[in-house]
Amino acid sequence: MKRFILFIAMLAAAANLAAAPRYDIVPTPKKLVAAEGYFVLDKNTSMVVEDAAFEEIAADFKAQARNASSFNGKKTRIVLRKREGFGKEAYKLTVTPTEVLIEASEVNGAFYGLQTFKQLLPAEIYQPSALKKAVKFMAPCCTIDDEPEFWYRGFLFDSGRFFFPKEEIMKFIDLCAMYKQNMFHWHLTEDQGWRIQIDKYPKLTEVGAWRKETAWHSGIGNGIPHGGFYTKDDIREVVEYARKRCVTVIPEVEIPGHSTAAITAYPELSCFPDRHYEVETRWGIWKNLYAPTATTFRFLEDVFTELFELFPSPIYHIGGDEAPKDVYKESQYCQDLMTVLGIDSEEELQTFFVKRIGDFLRKHGKTVIGWDEILDGGALEDPIAMSYRGHAPAARGIRRGIRVILTPNRWCYLDNKQEDQPDHIDQNVFMPLKKVYNYYPCVDSLRELSAKYIVGYETCLWTEYVPDNATAE
Ligand code: ACM
Repeated sequence: MKRFILFIAMLAAAANLAAAPRYDIVPTPKKLVAAEGYFVLDKNTSMVVEDAAFEEIAADFKAQARNASSFNGKKTRIVLRKREGFGKEAYKLTVTPTEVLIEASEVNGAFYGLQTFKQLLPAEIYQPSALKKAVKFMAPCCTIDDEPEFWYRGFLFDSGRFFFPKEEIMKFIDLCAMYKQNMFHWHLTEDQGWRIQIDKYPKLTEVGAWRKETAWHSGIGNGIPHGGFYTKDDIREVVEYARKRCVTVIPEVEIPGHSTAAITAYPELSCFPDRHYEVETRWGIWKNLYAPTATTFRFLEDVFTELFELFPSPIYHIGGDEAPKDVYKESQYCQDLMTVLGIDSEEELQTFFVKRIGDFLRKHGKTVIGWDEILDGGALEDPIAMSYRGHAPAARGIRRGIRVILTPNRWCYLDNKQEDQPDHIDQNVFMPLKKVYNYYPCVDSLRELSAKYIVGYETCLWTEYVPDNATAE
């Protein structure tokens, strides 16, 4: 009898679980009103696209959800409706037992409405190739009004430390889209590898994309050559894939530091062209910097000019971090240039360098992002600073009226220690999922300025200790 009662209690609990609608939506929508009942996506469902602007995202949704429906049913429908008055990324989603209605003014909003609807369905909806197994694609009824709080919702992926094939990059872009992240910051040049095909400078990829081996914490190399690069066609494919998912791909070309791979390919870009350089095999901060010469400026302008054809992004990232000035101190050319420019610190020489390239990008209609070191010189016109060394640089930036993206390394660097990965960039920072998820980009002591000048946040996946896709995921 006792067993029987237990059995009944378990059944009741299971029925209760099944009956309680679950709204597992990440990130949490602005407003959600739960309702009774479910919409079932199945062979009875059709899709109604009321505006041609939404055709492309509807077609992609149908392709992805083909294990749930062939979308020529007669009883229930998913409607994409264009309605004026919504912000670019805003939408309203109404789920009833017979209809899913997504209303938005622009394609970005409608796309996010579809993402939210997918999150209401069982996770199998994300497996386009899954067999039609016994999954019932039910979405709990509700009304959702939603719009992202921040303009910039970024994810950085570091293809410099390890090369990841384009197919794997596209998987990360899928994840960005799923979580309504709209900026994919692609870190493409490093001391350990240059990853972009540039026609005018073929040695960047012939030489700069390859290293002899990789050395881990111990500093002892593994003897295994590593490398790879993205062809222009690869990049076009990734950028187009992202565009269809409302994700902008922002390229980063690091200046003046993190440039050993480029300098190995073309030593004339360095302060000491006669020295021997090798693509770095170890992690860390290296002292090779681009020299502030006409040769380097021409090189960088040529590189960016080729990138303009590949990356339509209105924002470009020029790095600017971790550039020790030893070679600028040692170089007679740099010292003479400082005299000519009337400046007395090597930091100001970096400012001169960054301003020169920043001005070139601005002339081509680009907004420039740099790591928080770009705040040091203060010469760039209307830049966006990425505050990665905690919140102090953000405070400095917003006090001066500069737009800031928060990416403080102790909250936003996804390569920090989370659970049981064996190796991390910093063994001392424990950064479980909860800490990242609950992070809110703000300088607590400057709330008003934060609301005005902090344009968003970015999480970063640096890959020193992330050598493959499985670890990255
Ligand atoms: C950085 O972590 N050096 C941007």
